[in-house]
This record gives sequence, C-alpha cells and structure tokens, in this order.
Amino acid sequence: EAAPSFTLNPATIVASEMKMLTKNIQDLLSSGHPSLDKVAKYYIRSEGKHLRPLVVLLMARATYNCPKIEEDGTKRDTISASINVPITSPTILQDFNPSYSSTTLTRSTDSQHLSSDITTQISPSQKRLAEITEMIHAASLLHDDVIDNAEARRGSPSGNLAFGNKMAILAGDFLLGRASVALARLRDAEVVELLATVIANLVEGEFMQLQNGTETISQKYSPSAFDYYIQKTYLKTASLISKSCRAAAILGGSTKEVADAAYLYGKNLGLSFQLVDDLLDYTITSHDLGKPAQADLKLGLATAPVLFAWEQYEELGPMINRKFSEAGDVEKAWSFVQSSNGLERTRELAESFSRKAIEAISIFPDSEAKEGLEQIARKGLTRKK
Ligand code: FPP
Ligand code: MG
Ligand code: MG
Repeated sequence: EAAPSFTLNPATIVASEMKMLTKNIQDLLSSGHPSLDKVAKYYIRSEGKHLRPLVVLLMARATYNCPKIEEDGTKRDTISASINVPITSPTILQDFNPSYSSTTLTRSTDSQHLSSDITTQISPSQKRLAEITEMIHAASLLHDDVIDNAEARRGSPSGNLAFGNKMAILAGDFLLGRASVALARLRDAEVVELLATVIANLVEGEFMQLQNGTETISQKYSPSAFDYYIQKTYLKTASLISKSCRAAAILGGSTKEVADAAYLYGKNLGLSFQLVDDLLDYTITSHDLGKPAQADLKLGLATAPVLFAWEQYEELGPMINRKFSEAGDVEKAWSFVQSSNGLERTRELAESFSRKAIEAISIFPDSEAKEGLEQIARKGLTRKK
C-alpha cells in the first residue's frame, strides 16, 4: 500500500476544541466530595489519546458542509442556553431542582451563532457531545478494570488498584450520571436515545464476553463463533464511536443519508480498532502496551487470532470451551496461534473494516476534517499500542 503523500496530524485540525476537552469534563464532574472528585477524574487526564472525542469533533466538522435538514433554529438557541449552566452537587439535602430551570433561557442572537460556527464549524452541543462520549468511555474503563482485575492502564496503576473496587465502580456510575445530565441538556431526544443505547450496548457486549458463546455451539470450529465475536466487538467497542458519530451529524442538522454515513464510518472504525487491539495482545509486550499483554487468553477470551487459528487446529475447540482454564492451556493456545495464520487474517480483517470506514464517508465534500478521519482509519492499523 502506498504511503499517504501528506503528513497531517488530525488532532491539529480540532486542536483548540481538544485543548478545552479535559478541563470541560473536569468541570462536569465536580462533586461535593473530594475523593469522589479524584476517582471520577482519574481516567480523565490530558495524557490520554482521546480518540473518541477527536473523531466526534472531526465528524462534526466534516459534516458541516454536508446536506442539512430544514430547521427553524429555535432548538439550537435553547440548547446553547442550557448546556453552559454548571452542574453542581447540593451541599445540603434539597429537592430535585435542576439549576437550568431557574435560569432564564435567553435567545442568543444569530450573529453569535454565526461567528462561532464560522471560526470552528463545531457547535457548542457537538463539543459537549465529544465530552459526553469520553465520559462514557472513562466510566466503562473504570468498570472494565474491576471486571478484568487490571493492575495498570496507560502505564499507571488502574483505578481499582489505586482506589479499590468499590470506589472505582461508584466513580464509574457517577461519570454515567453526570454524562446523562449533560446529555439531557442537549435537548435532543434522538441523541439521548443513541447515547443511552450505547450504555446498554456496553453492558451487553461485556456480558457476551463473560460467556464466550461456545457454550451453545459444537466443539468444531463454526462460523457462528466468529459472528458472536464480531457482534460482541460491535457492542463493546464500536457502538460508542458509531452512535457518537451519528449523534454528531444529527446535532449538526445533517440529513439521514449523512447521519448513516457518519454511523458507518464509526462502526467500521470501531471494529477495525478492536481487531488491532486483539492482535496487539499477541504481538506487543506489556511494557510497550502500557497495560498487561497476553492478557486475553489468561482472561479466558477467544478473540479473532485464536478463532482463526481454530479453523486450522481443531484441538483449540475444547480449550476455547473451557476458557483456557486447564494447566498449560494458555501456553498451548498461544503457540497454536503463533504457528497459524490467525494473526495475519486478523490484520487483513482489520484492514477491510478500515477501508469500509473510509468508503462510508466518501460522499462527504472534501475537507481537512474528512482527511483527518481517513487518516485515523489508516493509522489505527499501524499503531503499536
Ligand atoms: C475494554 O475492553 C472495555 C470496554 C470497551 C467496555 C467495558 C464495558 C463494561 C465494563 C460494561 C459497563 C459499562 C459502562 C458504561 C459503565 P478490554 O478489557 O478488552 O480492553 P483493555 O485492554 O483496554 O482493558
Ligand atoms: Mg480490560
Ligand atoms: Mg475487558
């Protein structure tokens, strides 16, 4: 494959929005309790890759010049008035009294909207969506590290290790609560539905992973095991980014065709990323990954490399079924994978999803943001962590 002729860093296209992201999320997470504050913000740090909000912001910009549905503009004015009111925790017990309802929702003038749109092409509600997406992601990581008994994340102690399981779980729930408040304030029922569905999908995906799907199928390799894995992967990883991309297009007033394209980009990007993730677990050391490598087999997980290897080595069937729980299973499965074409086929599948992501947004007019989205889909394939 030919190397791209330009070196564009997608993050620079939306640099000013990305710069505000961490601070804005931290503001959304202020609580009356200092240690809740600390744990909830633990996975919201500036060093993170912030891939999901980056994609959401680029999608907002890339769809800016796409066809729009007719809109009267009143909704947008109400949104901008409600999303900027700080979310606070009560210091004493008080009745539910959302702070925005006591705020007069003043109609902002058209020129205010215009000026912010012309300079950034990204609306306040789309920026807030990017923050909400990262908050849901951070919540899922806090919970995931408890479930996986993880000790490290991004080269630092995991939340559960640093603060214990109870606080990590509660902080994740708090993140979801605050993300939901911010989401409600976007005043767009379709977008609320999309992101609420994501939260349910994350849990569904995690449940599918707890039971790896072979309980109900034969010991022989069967394509349905692979379908199960792809469905699980969609729910666990691709649902958040795909539905957030769709929400970004909807908040920008895009037509259904544009929203569908945004969704398809996110879906294929998410699938491609998770396949690369599952590949790196076999090919990169813990040190380089910043989290434990070779973890999946030890966790009993049969991901793409081992499922492909199963087609060549029937012996993997019983091991997959018992989640590599017998002595020597992990090592045996590991060497079957290494001598199979499973790693190569996983890479090829990731590449084909990446191509589909790029293909999905080919209907968008050319822009830097579109190039950024294309580059993210390509670069994901060669990442090392
Ligand atoms: C990381 O996968 C985990 C996820 C992407 C989703 C986890 C979802 C839950 C724990 C369900 C609860 C959801 C919410 C919204 C609180 P991984 O373990 O394969 O990746 P890792 O190597 O980064 O840990
Ligand atoms: Mg994990
Ligand atoms: Mg996990």
